Amino acid sequence: VPLQAYNSFGIVAKAHRLARIRAEADLAALRASDDWPELTREAPPFVLGGGSNLVITGDVRPLVLKVEIAGRRLVEETPKGWLVEAGAGENWHAFVQWTLERGWPGLENLALIPGTVGASPVQNIGAYGVELQDRFHSLDAIDLRSGEGFTLDAAQCGFGYRDSVFKHPPTDARDFGLAGRALIARVRFWLPKAWKPVLGYADLERKIAETGNTTPDARTIFDWICAIRRAKLPDPAVIGNAGSFFKNPTVTLDQCADIIAREPKVVHYPMPDGTVKLAAGWLIDACGWKGRGVGNAGVYDKQALVLVNRGGATGGEVVTLAKAIQTSVYERFGIRLEPEPVVI
Ligand code: EPU
Repeated sequence: VPLQAYNSFGIVAKAHRLARIRAEADLAALRASDDWPELTREAPPFVLGGGSNLVITGDVRPLVLKVEIAGRRLVEETPKGWLVEAGAGENWHAFVQWTLERGWPGLENLALIPGTVGASPVQNIGAYGVELQDRFHSLDAIDLRSGEGFTLDAAQCGFGYRDSVFKHPPTDARDFGLAGRALIARVRFWLPKAWKPVLGYADLERKIAETGNTTPDARTIFDWICAIRRAKLPDPAVIGNAGSFFKNPTVTLDQCADIIAREPKVVHYPMPDGTVKLAAGWLIDACGWKGRGVGNAGVYDKQALVLVNRGGATGGEVVTLAKAIQTSVYERFGIRLEPEPVVI
């Protein structure tokens, strides 16, 4: 099965075998089939959502489970808020838009993030001061080994910055980790009626100044976020990419002071825990990477944190480019950038 349409980088590769999971019953039937032991003998299955955080470096041998579980519904409305649920296969942005159309605010800062609802908890998607974990209620998943369903609340998901239990291998010392072990089927969000706009980001402050609107509603913030993202991030439907390719690194105050002494302009944000987050895009930009590349993989010219497929790039080219960027950032700043997408 060709995978080009199933990964936002638009890398050309094939899956040896791919099964579409439209309901939990599809997975149960597959597991019960005579083929299952053979399909999973060499490797556990690979769960594919929207493929928007993925670099494919060759044809995929493990069984690919493409999650296409649909459905969006209001589970419950209370005097305090709305509990909303979506199937893992639903498009994230369409889901955000749907909640706002119904008058349930809270997800507007997360507009236009590519990918599916089911993938959103995996890397705890975040943008413009809101992270998925701030609105998350619970999720239903299936253990791929036992076939059993289970539900996790926010604490059990172990959310961190672009991190969750779903990114950690089960062998982790903390006995924490569901990477490769679970298929997320449905996610629920809690949207409180006591809604407060989150406007602390420079890009949003600029919109307030431009428009003179100091009390934007959720729909207005949604429109602003869409405009901000369209201006600096490439649309994966036009230019293949996986969003930010690296996490913003965290350093100690001492390390930061050291870097500022050498590079006074370094973009940095003090964190509540006393560490400092650096803008990886700035570091990459400062190393002169904007517009450069390896083969058909390049660094986006409006945001150096985004690697793009200029047409016909291979996963190998993307990975080689990422390594070259890591090396030059390390040589210049002594900082190791950690990639964000999953490499298969
Ligand atoms: N910058 C440069 N040159 C560049 C890129 C950035 O100087 O080429 C500077 C900018 O001027 C800005 C700073 O770096 O002062 C930060 O840039 P930006 O506001 O674009 O945000 P970011 O830190 O690069 C993060 C998230 C994005 C999210 C935005 C907004 C990560 C890894 N990325 O990017 O998330 O949309 O903040 O909240 O945390 C994603 O994860 O795929 C993603 C797009």
